[in-house]
Amino acid sequence: MQVTRTHTRTPGGRIAYVGGRYMPHAEAAVHIEDRGLQFADAIYEVCAVSNGRMLDEEGHLDRLQRSLRELQMPMPMPRAALQAVMREMLRRNRLKEGLLYLQVTRGAFRRDHPIPADGRPTLIMAARNLSPAAFEKRRAEGVAVITIPDIRWGRCDIKTTGLLANVLAKTAARKAGAYEAWLVDEDGFITEGSSTNAWMVTQDGTVITRPLGPEILPGITRATVIRALAQAKIPFAERPFTAAEAKFAREAFFTSATGNVMPVVRIDGQAIGNGHPGLITQRLYTLYRELSGAGGTA
Ligand code: PDD
Repeated sequence: MQVTRTHTRTPGGRIAYVGGRYMPHAEAAVHIEDRGLQFADAIYEVCAVSNGRMLDEEGHLDRLQRSLRELQMPMPMPRAALQAVMREMLRRNRLKEGLLYLQVTRGAFRRDHPIPADGRPTLIMAARNLSPAAFEKRRAEGVAVITIPDIRWGRCDIKTTGLLANVLAKTAARKAGAYEAWLVDEDGFITEGSSTNAWMVTQDGTVITRPLGPEILPGITRATVIRALAQAKIPFAERPFTAAEAKFAREAFFTSATGNVMPVVRIDGQAIGNGHPGLITQRLYTLYRELSGAGGTA
């Protein structure tokens, strides 16, 4: 019997970028001794694409460079060249609505813990189409979150691919019928979500989020939403808040490149406000879309 290969090269199919080449997504691979695979010695970015444009592109690149610096990892290529590859990825994938994923690993070396002196980072990019419809439905209804202990390491401000604790937390949320898990530190304060920044609105209408520090990722969406709050003169404070306080909030929401500004209507089964997406949250979503370069709501 003749054995035929089932995977074919679809002309115009999904394209990835790895090791300096554009490749069919299904064939793109890294070496088994890549330190990204061996040690999660790698950093990444997720950039949302809307109407064929990257949202908050400069912010994502700034954070990518910061993550690299914190880990003494060199840039895989100059920033302008990186942006050219990003644009080419959008073009080759005909990406209008979706995500562009970038990862820089330390590269492939014999497995040894110390960081090798000669940097030769691997740059990886992948594109993914996402229908805005699923997000719009979620945004219209709001989502449920659960709270769970934060068991991550001490440098959550670096966007590394070491995400096992986040993966476990998100899985626990999904098993509990919720969309996201909010992580709680040893003092009872919410740090952030498993892949999102956490926010609440107090009964008197002040928007609250935890201040930046090693416990949370400096979200790019978070930064744009803070600019939106200032422009719209909406009361805002950066301070830690507990799960108990959030459960009695007027509104709650989370932010991320993927979810933009997403209303949270239930925390650990308890309804927030009237159990529907809040007005400030909805307004912030509109303002965010304008400021991030998406040009209006999806
Ligand atoms: N997650 N906190 C964590 C732990 C995150 O992983 C993310 C992003 C955020 C929000 O950051 P930003 O607004 O820059 O997307 C906060 C991405 C989307 C991911 O891992 O898929």
